[in-house]
Amino acid sequence: MFMQKKDIDWGSLGFGYIQTDKRYVSDFKDGKWDEGRLTEDANVVLNECAGVFQYAQTVFEGLKAYTTEDGRIVTFRPDLNAERLEQSAKRLEIPAFPRDRFIDAVKQVVSANAAYVPPFGSGATLYLRPYMMGTNPVIGVKPATEYQFRLFATPVGPYFKGGVKPLTLKVSDFDRAAPCGTGNIKAGLNYAMSLHAIVTAHNEGFDENMYLDAKTRTNVEETGGANFLFVTKDNKVVTPKSDSILPSITRRSLVQVAKEYLGLEAEERVIPFEEVKDMAECGLCGTAAVISPVGKIVDHGKEICFPSGMTDMGPITKKLYETLTGIQMGKIKAPEGWIYEIM
Ligand code: PLP
Ligand code: COI
Repeated sequence: MFMQKKDIDWGSLGFGYIQTDKRYVSDFKDGKWDEGRLTEDANVVLNECAGVFQYAQTVFEGLKAYTTEDGRIVTFRPDLNAERLEQSAKRLEIPAFPRDRFIDAVKQVVSANAAYVPPFGSGATLYLRPYMMGTNPVIGVKPATEYQFRLFATPVGPYFKGGVKPLTLKVSDFDRAAPCGTGNIKAGLNYAMSLHAIVTAHNEGFDENMYLDAKTRTNVEETGGANFLFVTKDNKVVTPKSDSILPSITRRSLVQVAKEYLGLEAEERVIPFEEVKDMAECGLCGTAAVISPVGKIVDHGKEICFPSGMTDMGPITKKLYETLTGIQMGKIKAPEGWIYEIM
């Protein structure tokens, strides 16, 4: 089927918002979700006292739609985003949005905005942002009784300017998440927490923050928007284990790719910051970040420079990147159930 794409310079897109034609909306009232609809209205008008405005009762997800080499439009593991959104909602006392309806909303929004799905090989993708929020007035600290689920799409390029140029991180003096807090869910409040820290890091010339665990400040957690992945000098993939980091779908997929496609050993375990200086490669993994190489980490003036250097991805990081994106864009056969075809 021939489809006229929008006149967008796909190759020069950054990670920003471009309004697309249609988004999906469903409202929760009187204990149930309505049937949902696509709308052209990109604005949300709510009461001044809505739960989302007063007590930040909102959770979200992030996933992408891709054009494959043979021209299909697909998404990557949306079932896991549906599941994680349910877990996030539960933690903030938001009623679950049914998982099958989440997948249906993804299909409807991508199909309705097919002209915005960047072409294969352009380096861009269609980013999907599902989210839920408390919509009725609440002034005492309690959950709302009415909610909205929305899902919009926006075409995006690389999350970090410079594409695959290795990043420089700062070990943050701020915490991202508390022990027994909300670090393991995708709640807007975690990102509000990180804004001052990221502005501080940027002002000091860093690309991102490395957060350590809030309780002991000795173990590696994650960055503001991605999980860590390290490669040891004997080519083992290791990722941090913690109850206060987001269970990244990209990271879980990369670990499986490392084992099943690249024949590497992979381990999820507590990683003391002390060990980081002995690693061969370091990357940030997430939907937006894909896998972005880290070249240097600075801990209060003390520099850790990875042997992979500041110009290219390390060799294992590169293989992981190529295999994962190859799977997502239909060049490499995917494990069963990873690719959902839209059209
Ligand atoms: N960690 C944080 C804090 C994030 O915001 C994200 C982005 O979604 C990730 C990790 C990566 O998760 P995923 O791979 O599921 O996109
Ligand atoms: C994603 O990777 O989808 C995220 O939500 C991270 C965010 C910092 C853009």
